[in-house]
Amino acid sequence: MSKAAKTIAKIAGKARIDAALVLGSGLSAIGGLLEDCITIPYSELKGFPGSGVSGHGRDLLIGQMGNKRLAILTGREHYYEHGNAAAMRPALEALADLGAETLMLTNSAGSVDERFRPGDLMLIADHINYAGMNPLIGEPTDRRFVNMVDCYNADLRGKAKAVGDRLGIPLGEGVYLWYSGPSFETVAEIQMAIRLGANAVGMSTAPEVILGRYLGMKVWACSSVTNMGAGLSSENISHEHTKTMAVQGAEKLKRLIPALVEEL
Ligand code: HPA
Repeated sequence: MSKAAKTIAKIAGKARIDAALVLGSGLSAIGGLLEDCITIPYSELKGFPGSGVSGHGRDLLIGQMGNKRLAILTGREHYYEHGNAAAMRPALEALADLGAETLMLTNSAGSVDERFRPGDLMLIADHINYAGMNPLIGEPTDRRFVNMVDCYNADLRGKAKAVGDRLGIPLGEGVYLWYSGPSFETVAEIQMAIRLGANAVGMSTAPEVILGRYLGMKVWACSSVTNMGAGLSSENISHEHTKTMAVQGAEKLKRLIPALVEEL
């Protein structure tokens, strides 16, 4: 068990964690859904992300969501912060050590598909690792050769869609293309993403999916669309805009996630 996992168990108790949830830009309000919540600042946990990005939290929350015990990472470290694609590895390893069998990921993304408008959610069915970085570079064991077919768990996707139907939250599926950031895309890069078969673009998530599969977790991921990609609309793309628009997606995720967690 990692040092961070031992610290978490000491503070929050040894009871098994059922699932881990990572919150994307502007989505930290979802953390408020936990009951009997224990907050542990990342700074107390060895290997957890450092200073962070505005709009992201810096705490690990452990608590109950319905009948499940959840660990919520209120913020992530992105590749663009320090050039480390494996930045989330210690945090995800610690939660896997504590029993988490399911990894749920959220992010804010730019849509390159008219089906997904700002304020909509897009269930990620697959990704394109266009950043070309991989969190398993340097991993010396044969476990590094992770099979990425069906890496976005089909059963969880199906359950999420059923829950979305029940709650009146449309959940179309799409392909997420990972650009490193931190600059937003050029108009030409968005046109390329469309030609490559992407439906949304963003600066996170794909490395965590690889890590989650490496750790043997079932992975589920959902984008909250904050804007149309560069050149696809007249709106000005900025981090401020992302954080403002993320509120709409957060409201939907706040209803969707507890109902999905119930079904895990
Ligand atoms: N591009 C990349 N990442 C993003 C975007 C975008 O347009 N919007 C929110 N995150």
